[in-house]
Amino acid sequence: MARKSTLKLNQIIEGDAYQIASALPSESVDTIVTSPPYYLQRNYGSNEQIGQEASPATYVERLTELFRELYRVVKPTGSAWIVIGDKYQNGELLGMPWRVALALKETGWRLRSDCIWHKPNAMPSSVKTRPTTDHEYIFFFTKSKEYFYDADAIREPHVTFSEKSKMKGGRGHFGKRGGTPEKGKNAGDNNLHDGRWDQAFHPKGRNKRTVWSISLSKFRKAHFAVFPESLVENCVQASCPPGGVVLDPFSGAATTLVVAQKLGRNYLGIDCVPEYCDLGRQRLKNSELDTQ
Ligand SMILES: C[S@@+](CC[C@H](N)C(=O)[O-])C[C@H]1O[C@@H](n2cnc3c(N)ncnc32)[C@H](O)[C@@H]1O
Repeated sequence: MARKSTLKLNQIIEGDAYQIASALPSESVDTIVTSPPYYLQRNYGSNEQIGQEASPATYVERLTELFRELYRVVKPTGSAWIVIGDKYQNGELLGMPWRVALALKETGWRLRSDCIWHKPNAMPSSVKTRPTTDHEYIFFFTKSKEYFYDADAIREPHVTFSEKSKMKGGRGHFGKRGGTPEKGKNAGDNNLHDGRWDQAFHPKGRNKRTVWSISLSKFRKAHFAVFPESLVENCVQASCPPGGVVLDPFSGAATTLVVAQKLGRNYLGIDCVPEYCDLGRQRLKNSELDTQ
């Protein structure tokens, strides 16, 4: 497919992610937020689908080929958030997320973070010989050393002064302005170290942590698991400036795209199953999120 010189935004393109990505203009996307089909998880009934390869190595190769192309497509300040789960075969964990992550590093993508998506309402399982899995990985990659990242947009509440904390009670812990906990109401507690704690606490909250505890989406119109809205919000707000472009090369029910639209970003989706492209377009038209 011939490479396009301009990007027609805010649409879902039907076809194979690699073929479509190869035709996209270079350096045109701010961030990718996506979840590839997991290895041997689901048959989407398409000849072009990824996920049904005979070996883990072939699966990794196909994703690597795609992300090599997507590396070209993102801007020099751009990034990719990849949500990916693992697979058991004959009772053994294959380690698919890390196989993919390490292969992408070899192609030039810089791995910045391995976040854990903890699912507090994960399906119970009948296994008795190992713990029940209730997490997936969210890998954060960037194209370059310098990249767009708005840490303030996704800060989380400090826990130090919350109900969960032994230090609830707020700034009284510091004594007077510029004080430290040792000089405040906890004076004499030798578990505390002498630091400028009140300056260490950012007024907008603490920096985002790597474990994200987010319940599964309630959206039921797709035959596969869709992203929870707040997971995508974190990625878009941190990595795409307002008015920028978010790409999901496996857009499915278009959760990434609907969130991008809601947050005032442009979007582009790709999916090889016509039925899912239609479902996504309908959802975009109605701005339909999982809470509705
Ligand atoms: C796990 S689902 C994505 C769900 C999505 N994150 C959401 O919130 O709705 C994976 C999607 O990848 C699509 N897909 C599989 N192989 C593909 C390929 N080679 N090119 C494009 N899309 C593909 C499937 O049709 C499916 O819709």
